[in-house]
Amino acid sequence: MRIMSGMRATGQLHIGHYWGTLRNWITLQHSYTCFFGVMDLHGMTTAYKTTAEIPKWNHEMFAEFLAWGLDPEKCTIYIQSQIPELLELFMYFSNLTPLGWLERVNTWKDAIEEAKQNDTHNLGRFAYPVLQAADIAIFRGEKVPVGQDQVSHLEISREIIRRFNSLYKAKLPEPRALLTDTPLVLGLDGRKMSKSYNNGLLLTEEAKTLEKKIKGMPTDPARVRREDPGEPEKCPVYTFHKLYSSSADLEWVQVGCRTAGIGCGDCKMRLVENINKMSAEPREKKKELLNNPKTLDSIIRNGNERARLEAQTTLKIVKENMKL
Ligand code: TRP
Ligand code: SF4
Repeated sequence: MRIMSGMRATGQLHIGHYWGTLRNWITLQHSYTCFFGVMDLHGMTTAYKTTAEIPKWNHEMFAEFLAWGLDPEKCTIYIQSQIPELLELFMYFSNLTPLGWLERVNTWKDAIEEAKQNDTHNLGRFAYPVLQAADIAIFRGEKVPVGQDQVSHLEISREIIRRFNSLYKAKLPEPRALLTDTPLVLGLDGRKMSKSYNNGLLLTEEAKTLEKKIKGMPTDPARVRREDPGEPEKCPVYTFHKLYSSSADLEWVQVGCRTAGIGCGDCKMRLVENINKMSAEPREKKKELLNNPKTLDSIIRNGNERARLEAQTTLKIVKENMKL
């Protein structure tokens, strides 16, 4: 089975990218033929005024994928803009996509006002799902691991590919979402993680800022004084413990918090230790990769080449189907 997925390039990854997506890719690479993309063209639909940042973002994201365990021997990792074949397919798909389909996509409908305000009410952003359909079809992807937020995009990808198949008697696989279990990842303040709230935690946060951010987290407001008991389920620190801490540590927090046996400072320090345990190695690996741009470049180039060969194969079939 062929798996295809991608992540929009937007600079540094935050922990939501890991728990929601990257972690699943790392598992899937062992069992399937996988294609994972750094989606910089999708990134540019909104970041088109700052294209100078894009190469840096691509490198960062690629390095981060490798640092956390994507293995270029086990899966194909590539940068979207380096696969020109997918843009050709995007153009063919554009013609057979009625505007009405795109107008109905939630991520567009709900963002129109914001898009007008920040000058991203543009054709590229409107056509985002068509490009996504081309991303999938160019690798003949069958399953697409995505979070719930991407389901409407996947639906339209299926419709576009189905229409292509029926118009040209083609047999591109109709992709299906692979809904992976995604734990709830909230921001540091317990609200939804969002750039505008500035409450995010980077995936490869430096040890110093990590400690500072965790120390600054709000806790269960019931624990006004050290001797007041609290309730972990009402505390954002605990939602992070659930991601990073062992069951023994979870037990320690629950008991300690409810009996005021531990202070919030102890609780937070344990969390910092546990996040560090998991991130120390990837943090170093990422640094090493970014400090050796030649090595990283050659890994990226290999990935792009492998991806391109696949894309060329698909495009050849597509053009035969279309009698071009
Ligand atoms: N839209 C996806 C996101 O925002 C990224 C993406 C681009 C993607 N192309 C894709 C995901 C193809 C799956 C398949 O994260
Ligand atoms: Fe939150 Fe831990 Fe303090 Fe309990 S002890 S309120 S879980 S930080």
